[in-house]
Amino acid sequence: MKKYKVGIIGATGMVGQRFSLLLADHPWFEVTTLAASARSAGKKYKDAVGERWAMTSPIPEKLADMVILDASNVEEVASNVDFVFCAVDMKKDEIRALEEKYAKAECPVISNNSAHRSTPDVPMIIPEINADHAKIIPAQKKRLGTKRGFIAVKSNCSLQSYVPAIHPLMDLGVTKVLACTYQAISGAGKTFKSWPDIVDNIVPYIGGEEEKSEQEPLKIWGKIEGDKIVNTQTPSITSQCIRVPISDGHTAAVFVSFEKECSLDEIISRWENYKGRAQELNLPSAPKQFLHYFTEPDRPQIKTERNLENGMAVSIGRLREDSQYTIKFVCMSHNTLRGAAGGAVLMAELLCAEGYMD
Ligand SMILES: NC(=O)c1ccc[n+]([C@@H]2O[C@H](COP(=O)([O-])OP(=O)(O)OC[C@H]3O[C@@H](n4cnc5c(N)ncnc54)[C@H](OP(=O)(O)O)[C@@H]3O)[C@@H](O)[C@H]2O)c1
Repeated sequence: MKKYKVGIIGATGMVGQRFSLLLADHPWFEVTTLAASARSAGKKYKDAVGERWAMTSPIPEKLADMVILDASNVEEVASNVDFVFCAVDMKKDEIRALEEKYAKAECPVISNNSAHRSTPDVPMIIPEINADHAKIIPAQKKRLGTKRGFIAVKSNCSLQSYVPAIHPLMDLGVTKVLACTYQAISGAGKTFKSWPDIVDNIVPYIGGEEEKSEQEPLKIWGKIEGDKIVNTQTPSITSQCIRVPISDGHTAAVFVSFEKECSLDEIISRWENYKGRAQELNLPSAPKQFLHYFTEPDRPQIKTERNLENGMAVSIGRLREDSQYTIKFVCMSHNTLRGAAGGAVLMAELLCAEGYMD
């Protein structure tokens, strides 16, 4: 099978490093280009990353000596690849402009950045939940005036555990959600080495995170109407997002109200049997089982569950009835795998399998 040639924009960053590990031996994709800022351009990948390498596995040998390109040289990067993954730390308007330049150079962009998440014709896809939102891509191409270039985005990492857990319950008439998240430091592009003050500490503020946690699910559960995705009106979601001294893995304590009757056993059965488009298509990065329920009272835990199914599964536990909401539970997912690079690779696999990259 012919492999798709792919580039990683922001290859030196925390998410970019994850991309490099996930893509180095990917069955469908071959990394032909690495790009970052002008500061890294011209250096070998291993030298540009240097001390910043934050993964537990070493830099993939195949990529270590690859010379980094300047991401602002859009034509040069785009001419080497079939599409790019993008995860950069820049101002929002600069990211929006950069991603549109790539799309207009007929190079599809699979983005981890938040810049285009609220653009109404840019799909924000979790392949197990709203794979059908890819159908908006022709409308976006029409707006951009492109033949194959488009932008598709991943949602924020904070909601990657609770939106999957709530999704199989949506037909029960979910009205209200309260989610408190306990988020790992890799979500801020940090390690314990680069952020020593977080050890033995909690920071009760993550800029912009609560708005994303409350708004982005409404687009994911939205519907395509004409040339845009229209957000759903319900459920109403409120959240608090807290940074905790964990390297990888976001946990959420969640309370949900719904209108119809449903036993706790039935909810667990819905979770355990849930399959989405990623499982139907048997995509290479798809977990065999998306949602895992743990009956032990002290699970899921970060250390035992975050790498479940290569960090692509969502772990749930402690389901109980609640005195103010209908139910409450705890859930967890790996923030740089399912929540960032892994989720983006899975979305790219979906878009390839559905013919959007050809
Ligand atoms: N970490 C997570 O779990 C997570 C999850 C979801 C989404 N995200 C999003 O992913 C993006 C990257 O996050 P990160 O944690 O990987 O950040 P990071 O570790 O700070 O890495 C930032 C990357 O952006 C590059 N960059 C900075 N300025 C640039 C410019 N002007 N032109 C081109 N490249 C430039 C950097 O290249 P140099 O090395 O050359 O400076 C580096 O490769 C952000 O938008 C973030 O919100 C992160």
